[in-house]
Amino acid sequence: MQIHLSLDGAGGLGQRLYESLRRALIDGQVLAGQRLPSSRVLAAELGVSRRLVVEAYERLVAEGFLGAAPGRGTFVLRVPPRQREEERAGPGPGAHWRSLPAWGGRLAPGRHNFPGGATDRALLPWAAWRRAMMAALREASRDIGLYGDPRGEASLRLAIARYLGYSRGLACDGESLLITQGAQQGLDLLARVRVAPGDTVAMEEPGYPPARAVFEARGARVVPVPVDEQGLCVERLPDAASLIYVTPSHQFPLGMPMSLERRLALLAFARRHDALVVEDDYDGEFRFEGRPLDALKSLDREGRVAYLGSFSKVLHADLRLGYLVMPPGLAPALLQARAFSDGYPPLVTQRALARLMIDGDFARHLRRMQRLYTARRTRLGDALAAYPALWTALPQVAGIHVALCLRSPVADLSALLAAADIRANPLAAFYAGEPSLNGVLLGFGVIDGDAIDRGVAALAEAVTR
Ligand SMILES: Cc1ncc(COP(=O)(O)O)c(C=O)c1O
Repeated sequence: MQIHLSLDGAGGLGQRLYESLRRALIDGQVLAGQRLPSSRVLAAELGVSRRLVVEAYERLVAEGFLGAAPGRGTFVLRVPPRQREEERAGPGPGAHWRSLPAWGGRLAPGRHNFPGGATDRALLPWAAWRRAMMAALREASRDIGLYGDPRGEASLRLAIARYLGYSRGLACDGESLLITQGAQQGLDLLARVRVAPGDTVAMEEPGYPPARAVFEARGARVVPVPVDEQGLCVERLPDAASLIYVTPSHQFPLGMPMSLERRLALLAFARRHDALVVEDDYDGEFRFEGRPLDALKSLDREGRVAYLGSFSKVLHADLRLGYLVMPPGLAPALLQARAFSDGYPPLVTQRALARLMIDGDFARHLRRMQRLYTARRTRLGDALAAYPALWTALPQVAGIHVALCLRSPVADLSALLAAADIRANPLAAFYAGEPSLNGVLLGFGVIDGDAIDRGVAALAEAVTR
């Protein structure tokens, strides 16, 4: 293990060695659990006596930084959280960021796994992906190494533009597309170029907390606007709203699609108030009843809608790939913001995904997942229907999660879910204000077969208790 120690400074050599080691631990040069070089090796490297190293190690063991065990040598026990250093720095230009609550909704696996929106890595088309990656690597090895296009690779933009045409009724060309690292980067870029401190941003209530966090981080006043069975209640939008974030294909988290009437009303509002509509179409591809609704963006004749798509549901979030159909008026600013942020997206993954789409493997994967999710949704629906006295599932025609409303309120649903080892988010987590629904979001992206029945039975038992 490499550890950089400087023995410069005042004081005795032993003291300087101890302080330098301590600083390396606090600065995070080494991680908890890592083993330090033996005292003999470190003493030889630094040209000091072994006794000084042993003494420094002993002091740090006594302070709780290091541990020592026969056969394991000396290892890092714990390092102070980085945050403490930041706090010591006091409020500075970044203080606003740190004051935001973290979105704690990402769930680690437990016994019964219903995380919202996660998909199963094991079900990715790995063989096709390997072939596509190998081809992309071969291609990259023959390229001259110029920097890429901030919009992303042309081949991928073209493949996505075609896909949006037939799957979402969205006529766009590759020129207006920006490849992003997930929908989240698209949101961040839009917020940078379109939201200034004090601006009013409207969001569905309940809504997607990471979007709220991005707008709040820009200093916006984020106004929650209620939804009903037709989606966003457009008549409740504040006049001052300059940006409106919506999930029209599949409202996150409740699941209803936005009616055509509301879509048109929203576009009319945007025209009247010169507002930007951000359409987050995160999982509209999976549809279980009727024809997939076309994107809201397909109705936009004036360039007032920015359309966000993601490969996180159709493939996997680990890819960190998404896209943004840029309204023409915002394109120059968005490209500049992208260039300032991370330059351009990773070349090889983009080319591999383009190949997956062009060769038909992506479409095959979607068809397979559609069949699988249809079966899971039916199974989950049947399992939930066995407990009509406990809950009702909100109608769900698309996506990979179901919102469940409990008939009797449960005081601390998070604690109850944790105690039953059920990984699912209470609906309350998605409200900015007082939750009007008491329930839970059940994702079926990583759970299948009997596990669905067992999970629902565990939930029923927990709720009954
Ligand atoms: C509403 C919504 N938008 C977007 C995303 C996808 O984000 P990303 O593409 O950054 O993974 C998710 C994923 O959970 C989501 O629930």
